[in-house]
Amino acid sequence: MWTDVAAKPVNAEQATAVPPPDPFATRVLRFVRAQWRYYLICRRDNVVWMRHLGGRVGDNCELLINHFGSEPWLISIGDRVTIAPGTRLLTHDGAPRIFRGRFADSSRFGNRFGTIVIRDDCFVGADSVILPGVSIGPRSIVGAGSVVAHDVPADTVVAGVPARRICSLDEYIAKTRARWIPTAARDRRELRRDLTRALWGEER
Ligand SMILES: CC(C)(COP(=O)(O)OP(=O)(O)OC[C@H]1O[C@@H](n2cnc3c(N)ncnc32)[C@H](O)[C@@H]1OP(=O)(O)O)[C@@H](O)C(=O)NCCC(=O)NCCS
Repeated sequence: MWTDVAAKPVNAEQATAVPPPDPFATRVLRFVRAQWRYYLICRRDNVVWMRHLGGRVGDNCELLINHFGSEPWLISIGDRVTIAPGTRLLTHDGAPRIFRGRFADSSRFGNRFGTIVIRDDCFVGADSVILPGVSIGPRSIVGAGSVVAHDVPADTVVAGVPARRICSLDEYIAKTRARWIPTAARDRRELRRDLTRALWGEER
């Protein structure tokens, strides 16, 4: 609950209570240091990178993102989780920037944060946004392009903006099996052959 200690517009003294952003050189240095750590220390392994940043990640995860926001230590990911490219895990609400200067107990980093918990065996589709305070799964699926604002129960498929329940995991498995494309491809070349035959009716 916010306490409006000032209950009046921001005055000059309160406005200066929030320090200005870091100078350009500091940002460049920080960027170079992060690149160095990502490429040389963590060898572009996103799981290692996430742990290096202080986040919790279980075993056998496939993280196809390498940006974990400004508070990676507020994120906890279970075992066998896949996070598709473009997904963003947001652990803070930046919107209070426009009024936080009014409050004596405001921080330059913000004051509204939430954890993100993605439990075992979840899949988060491409370009999704997971908002602060959300917990997902276990064994749940988030559709591509979703904005997840509320907890997702176990064994559930959600999608959309905002994300809503589409079906249960069992229903999704049944639908997927009905659309299954049989292939025993051992490499991308064989996969291309099988998929173009199945979907174009000819090899391409
Ligand atoms: C969410 C998902 C798993 C649902 O699959 P599904 O249950 O087979 O979905 P269906 O095709 O049966 O669609 C069911 C309904 O959900 C809607 N829907 C499906 N995916 C959606 C999505 N990503 N966002 C919004 N709505 C979606 C469909 O439009 C349909 O709505 P309708 O009943 O009003 O027509 C799938 O669509 C998806 O997004 N997969 C992830 C893809 C991805 O990220 N790939 C990258 C891999 S690294």
